[in-house]
Amino acid sequence: VVLTQDELKKIAAYKAVEFVESGMVLGLGTGSTAKHAVDRIGELLRQGKLNNIIGIPTSKKTQEQALSLGIPLSDLDSHPTVDLAIDGADEVDPHLNLVKGRGGSLLREKMVEGACKKFVVIVDESKLVKYLGGSGLAMPVEVVPFCWKFTARKLQNLFEDSGCVAKLRNDCKGEPFVTDNGNYVVDLYLKKDIGDLQVASDAILRIAGVVEHGMFLDMATTVIVAGELGITIKNK
Ligand code: A5P
Repeated sequence: VVLTQDELKKIAAYKAVEFVESGMVLGLGTGSTAKHAVDRIGELLRQGKLNNIIGIPTSKKTQEQALSLGIPLSDLDSHPTVDLAIDGADEVDPHLNLVKGRGGSLLREKMVEGACKKFVVIVDESKLVKYLGGSGLAMPVEVVPFCWKFTARKLQNLFEDSGCVAKLRNDCKGEPFVTDNGNYVVDLYLKKDIGDLQVASDAILRIAGVVEHGMFLDMATTVIVAGELGITIKNK
């Protein structure tokens, strides 16, 4: 049998939830893969196989899902240290660096996942890339709405050697997509490797108007990849 991409996502998510122990403060990711993990945590709580979990959601959407499942929630102000976070990713490179944020939740994800002792990333094998940006899909940057074209132009110029095209993300109605934090997202499309990722990260963050970018460098401690041939677990 050939598994669908969603079935692979679910397999990776369920595997990650095996790392969850009662009493943990848990970062709850966002997206179609993380959704399976949150569902599973809710199920195990209901069955009494897990207890005393506190979830820290990475988006309003995940917050709603977790509330509907009866998962007790808190935030980073009350729980600055998170034991474990589980989340999907858009791209994973061979060093376990990630691109995240195609769902638009990159800022809260980076805050929560940057505060956790263990960060388990769950993907199907289509997310593996040779270098970040290598899928040809967007590298998201959250920007303040004020003069976003100015910020987008600076971003595009920064990576002009990589053939970068910067585009404002729109929602399904053709209006600017607005993040949970009231910001816009500029998606960077790259034709080539951008080289040293830490240098690129620093340069992006120095541009006035940028709030955060979707490169998650040296943050994942484990990546669980579900593929047609089974599960692969990569550890930092
Ligand atoms: C949300 O902003 C993202 O970072 C998601 O975690 C990422 O886009 C992966 O999403 P899927 O699991 O839906 O592919």
